[in-house]
Amino acid sequence: MVHRLAACLIAAVCLATGARAQLPAPLPRIVSHDGSHALMVDDAPFWILGAQANNSSNSPAQLPMVWAAIDRLGANTLEMPVAWEQVEPREGQFDFSWVDTLLSQARQHQVRLVLLWFATWKNGSPHYTPEWVKTDPKRFPRVIDAKGQPVDSLSPLGAATLAADSKAFAALMAHVKAVDPQHTVIMVQVENETGTWGSVRDYSAIAQKAFDGLAPTALVKARGLTPGTWREVFGADADEIFHAWSIAHYVDAVAAAGQAQLDLPMSVNVSLRDPIAPKGPETYESGGPTDNVLDVWQAAAPHIAVIGPDIYQPDFAHYTAAIDHYDRPGNPLFVPETSRSYATARYMFAVLGRGGIGFSPFGLDFTGDATTAEAIPAGAGDKLEPFAADYHLLSPMMRYWARTAFEDRVKGAAENDARTPDVLDFGDWVVTVRYDRPAFGASDWAQVKPRPVNPQGADGGVLIARQGPDEFIVTGRNVRVEFAPKAPGRHMQFLSVREGTLGDQGWRTHHVWNGDQTDYGLNLSAVARTLDVRLSTY
Ligand code: DGJ
Repeated sequence: MVHRLAACLIAAVCLATGARAQLPAPLPRIVSHDGSHALMVDDAPFWILGAQANNSSNSPAQLPMVWAAIDRLGANTLEMPVAWEQVEPREGQFDFSWVDTLLSQARQHQVRLVLLWFATWKNGSPHYTPEWVKTDPKRFPRVIDAKGQPVDSLSPLGAATLAADSKAFAALMAHVKAVDPQHTVIMVQVENETGTWGSVRDYSAIAQKAFDGLAPTALVKARGLTPGTWREVFGADADEIFHAWSIAHYVDAVAAAGQAQLDLPMSVNVSLRDPIAPKGPETYESGGPTDNVLDVWQAAAPHIAVIGPDIYQPDFAHYTAAIDHYDRPGNPLFVPETSRSYATARYMFAVLGRGGIGFSPFGLDFTGDATTAEAIPAGAGDKLEPFAADYHLLSPMMRYWARTAFEDRVKGAAENDARTPDVLDFGDWVVTVRYDRPAFGASDWAQVKPRPVNPQGADGGVLIARQGPDEFIVTGRNVRVEFAPKAPGRHMQFLSVREGTLGDQGWRTHHVWNGDQTDYGLNLSAVARTLDVRLSTY
């Protein structure tokens, strides 16, 4: 009562003196409407134009080499590991100094954070657990394979492991709550590429007992099957589904413990099975949220808002198939990791153009660490291209695009390997996106040769937003964009084509396009730009 009175008095004084009371920043959250999703940051849709640091960049000594790359890249979000071994080196004694350093430097660089909780699973293994976990297999049991041998993965049925991981994660989230009222941290990834290499499931006595029992009713119902034991219900797939259910349950409990402290959106990432021609679960990380068990994960892990594919196969067919699998009802599309190859950057347009909430290539720092891509020498900013060009293009307009996409008014496309045109249907207007046209000249001119394929990799991509009935915003690079009315017998004419930017203050024209720049389609050359296009018909 006394407190309330004091608060009222302070508020009254603030009002009377014109001083503003500092309101808490709104919590980041995922919202969904009519099949569209948005990550709300500061109460407005936000696109993660992100980058993930290398695994061993999670220390203050490495941060200068991370920020140099992030700043050059123009990323608005950094994905950075927070390892269990780092924050709880001795059981029950927490040290969050790494988190504090990371947060304060992120704010200086005006970059948001997605924290990656590397704990029970990191690429399927417990390599980031503290030593007191690694050295106590009795208390923290491993997965036992079908031959009775322990493998390099902890059992999802280890009750003490779950309790210890949950406790540490809850402590992390309580700390973030205390030190981050402005929500520099916008999302938290729980574990990393969960699953098990080397055994389809846990065959320990305790796991076998659970496996011989009845499959959970919720899961059986969700799949429209008849109740029974795991084997009876799921047949040959039972081992993998059992493992997926067990891991998803575990991850959900860890997420729930963290959310009880601070209710941020929580995500998981996926080590994919082949999205087109998958082989059996012995060939990938069994039990992780691969496309065949996404429904299992969704049923078992309601505290996980986003299941994001780590896409490392850069060819168009595999990339598109992976996106198709994870762009599902109830799952916002987010690519938390992708290879840092020249040809991968174009997929940002495809991911965001179909309603994705973010895109984040892996290993973009100057630490000298290499994974699937070569290390970037310190200061070699050109190696960050074309990701940097794309982020610099979109950053000033990010809020516009994120909001418009949430309203389902955005479509996008990325150059496919066969360079066949994409047709984007906006109802009464149809947009054809071509990848093989040069920046000038009608297609039937003898002297017009196709735009050569970039030897570094395909590089065309575009985002188009419907701004009004006959007005569109177009942004991208290395594409020719052609508008046509659907109405039979009608032809398109431009009323105006203006190049400029769409910042928080609205559209600002840089200059007007006409003549050679509009007579042969709208050619977004290698120099990425943004156009406001007004159309009519005759
Ligand atoms: C996927 C993992 O999630 C990352 O932490 C890292 O190990 C990359 N693979 C390396 O390509």
